[in-house]
Amino acid sequence: MQQQILSTVAIAATLVITGCASQQPAPAQVDPVTFVNQFESTFGKFDGYRRSGAKGICATGEFVGTADARNLSTASAFSGKPVPVVARFSVGGANPKVADNGKTQRNMALQFNLPNNEQWLMGNINAPVFGAATPEQFLGRLVSLQPDPATKAADPAKVKAFADANPEVLLQGKYFASQPVPASFGAQNYWGVHAYAFVNAKGDKQFGKWIFEPVGGVQGLTDDEAKAKGPAFLFDDLRQRVKDGKVAFNFNLELAEPGDKLDSATTPLPAGRKKVNLGTLKITSVSEDAGGACLTVNYNPMVMPKGVEPSADPMLAARAAPYAVSQGRRLSEGAKQQ
Ligand code: HEM
Repeated sequence: MQQQILSTVAIAATLVITGCASQQPAPAQVDPVTFVNQFESTFGKFDGYRRSGAKGICATGEFVGTADARNLSTASAFSGKPVPVVARFSVGGANPKVADNGKTQRNMALQFNLPNNEQWLMGNINAPVFGAATPEQFLGRLVSLQPDPATKAADPAKVKAFADANPEVLLQGKYFASQPVPASFGAQNYWGVHAYAFVNAKGDKQFGKWIFEPVGGVQGLTDDEAKAKGPAFLFDDLRQRVKDGKVAFNFNLELAEPGDKLDSATTPLPAGRKKVNLGTLKITSVSEDAGGACLTVNYNPMVMPKGVEPSADPMLAARAAPYAVSQGRRLSEGAKQQ
């Protein structure tokens, strides 16, 4: 296992260094151990759990790509044949006891298991933007939120000073505040947030940002409904909806146009960009307990198939190494997710 973790770190490091010849993602500027230590100092240390997206559940599914996707990319995920997917749905944050009925982040992480041992890994969130634009800004935000040992709460003056100087860190919170509490993991939009390049057989490169949109539409709860649901309803809700055959997502790509900003997880593409349906993901089973194939997976978003390439977004490359550090810690402590 240790060897597997080390090789993940090595692969992550190689990806960060080699990246994509034409895009050259910037090397991570924040030491990954510092990052994970700071998650623990700010949010608490919960042995065995992911240091972010701690409370989660495993599911499996199947993805079928479209002809439009094949025009954009040679990725084998889009062959049109069913591709098995190991999914994980989670509630944002490091606390495995976080309530399900808050206006906080929901995640959908996916592992597409492709022919010839290729994989496509991604961790998508139910907001069009992330909470920081650069790794340094993200670390600074976490430091500003660290509880003071005396009061056990963050110092409001520090939080405000950092946010005033870094207004991007407030965008995601404003988005969540504007949305209802999610009714279901299966009824949310999940954004990839970063730009990626799609490369076709002719070598044409199209950048875009993706969204997984629920086929049955987005559903939220009123404040009264959310209160009545209580702190733990999302897992059973997902099991029921999947049993009823009702959880599927359109994998859609918004196509970037010349001049669009491609290196920022806090800047969505302008509204109205052409959207192409890349295929449909159907969730077919949900774990009955805290186990399942996703438990030990590291959804490192720098792992993608031939035909998909990273953008120069510094937040994208910066995810690989801390994820491996978090994975190493949680596996050595005994992996848990509920
Ligand atoms: C430098 C920036 C970031 C750091 C340091 C960071 C850190 C982490 C860590 C430590 C984990 C737990 C990994 C594991 O134990 O397997 C995690 C999970 C996750 N992160 Fe990030 N993250 C970053 C950026 C982002 C961004 C931009 C997104 C937006 C899409 C994101 C979405 C997720 C999701 C969805 C998960 C849960 C994945 C799962 O279910 O395994 N993260 N993050």
